[in-house]
Amino acid sequence: MKSFRVRELKSTDNEALLAFEIHNREWFESHIDARDPSFYSLQGVADHIECYLSDFAIGAWHPFVIEDSRQKIVGRANLKSINSPKRSAQVGYRIDQHACGQGLATLALRHLIHEAQMRWELKQLVAYVYQENVGSRKVLGRCGFSLEQLSCNEKAGEECRFVLSI
Ligand SMILES: CC(C)(COP(=O)(O)OP(=O)(O)OC[C@H]1O[C@@H](n2cnc3c(N)ncnc32)[C@H](O)[C@@H]1OP(=O)(O)O)[C@@H](O)C(=O)NCCC(=O)NCCS
Repeated sequence: MKSFRVRELKSTDNEALLAFEIHNREWFESHIDARDPSFYSLQGVADHIECYLSDFAIGAWHPFVIEDSRQKIVGRANLKSINSPKRSAQVGYRIDQHACGQGLATLALRHLIHEAQMRWELKQLVAYVYQENVGSRKVLGRCGFSLEQLSCNEKAGEECRFVLSI
């Protein structure tokens, strides 16, 4: 694999993050829910980052980006809705269309699992994935997540719940 690293989101990421999100907007919208159109501006992304970083400060969210060797953002991964009393959180990730198929989502999810264990001392991670998102389901399976059968009917357009006990 080329050289990539996962690092925390920073307040100075506005321009790089906007470029990443605009460049991949159609790709993401074909797999996951669309963002509000107001997100796609420097102010929109600045507000988004501020919100994520203030949630990080209160221990509710842990946002990361994946960078290539030229410091270009090629992916994002988040521990979301961290619930310390329940010791659980959700995971989410998205990878630049042109950087897919190199193991980056797997790298990012393994990083989230490590942080969930070591920093947040969580016991359970949950992911919601559309039935037809084969790539994401493969990443989750590879990282040890199991499909909760009851939550997943076989209709396209339906979300499935995957769980990892750690
Ligand atoms: C899903 C996604 C995160 C995968 O990222 P990635 O960096 O390509 O993932 P990885 O390379 O770690 O692994 C993906 C695996 O799925 C496989 N895969 C991807 N699409 C596939 C498809 N349509 N059918 C079969 N296998 C597929 C890849 O070949 C790879 O397996 P391999 O390593 O054995 O070859 C990326 O496609 C993405 O960002 N999609 C849009 C946003 C999204 O869906 N996020 C997840 C929401 S739950």
